[in-house]
Amino acid sequence: MRWVLTSISKKYRFKYIKRGVSGLPCVIFEFVQKRYGNESSFILNGDKSIEAVKTWTNELFSKKGVADFSFPEEVYEWFLKVVFEVYEKAENDLEKRMIMVKIIHTREVMIAGVDITSAEKNYKWNDFQVRTVCLLHDIGRFEQALLGSYSDVKTNFDHALAGAEMIKKHDFSEFAALGIDKNSVVESVRCHSAYSYPGEDVYAKLIRDADKLALLRCMPEILAVKVEEYPTTGVTEAALRAYKAGRMVRNEDINTKADLFLAWLGWQSDLNFSQTAKILDKEGIKKWMEEELALLGVEI
Ligand SMILES: [Fe+2]
Repeated sequence: MRWVLTSISKKYRFKYIKRGVSGLPCVIFEFVQKRYGNESSFILNGDKSIEAVKTWTNELFSKKGVADFSFPEEVYEWFLKVVFEVYEKAENDLEKRMIMVKIIHTREVMIAGVDITSAEKNYKWNDFQVRTVCLLHDIGRFEQALLGSYSDVKTNFDHALAGAEMIKKHDFSEFAALGIDKNSVVESVRCHSAYSYPGEDVYAKLIRDADKLALLRCMPEILAVKVEEYPTTGVTEAALRAYKAGRMVRNEDINTKADLFLAWLGWQSDLNFSQTAKILDKEGIKKWMEEELALLGVEI
């Protein structure tokens, strides 16, 4: 048995068809809202000149629920400068695709951050800071793309620390007027992908949830553009053990596709806001991951 992504043409949903040995479809499932729209095909086959990708980026950040995003202009300009300085150096299609995936991921994290903060009404959010943290959380990833992988372990590159240092060094003149706490932004970026976050900064907690929500919402599409490949057989014992014990899977224990799904499922134990868990459940994402694991022959 194998599952084949047969169609992403339905307006909002992926359609997976389970094929039997004969190759004939026998079961159809539809879940996980489609978020990239036509962006996956642009990433795979579109014009990857700097001008075309800049236009694409500006469109990504000015439509589909992002139009009302009041992110500070200066922060966005700096984001673009960093991204395209790196993009200019990209030498092959893989590196370009990797950068484009992170551009769209950043847009998705902004949407996730807004979704969570608008539902979590007990906090007094500074919307400019929310958007700044979301926009800059993976700023260190772009340079990492030139190393050919987004694995901090494989590249020996701590993208969160690198991003935090870049922000620390840059002078953002708008921050004071907009009430943005730079130390909190730096802390949020530095800790966004750490195994755990014992601190108290609410924006650091937010970005950890927004990143997870955005990644999980887009996983089928991220997998479809093939920026990282994982073996489809086997499961790492330590990953399975961690998941079953209710702990997060460590990055160094993620070696196969099954490990990846165990890690993603395990993220649920590390959410900071109840609304994030509600959204994941409501959108059918948990169910999708469980089905994928079953398909890979892993019992949880
Ligand atoms: Fe990250």
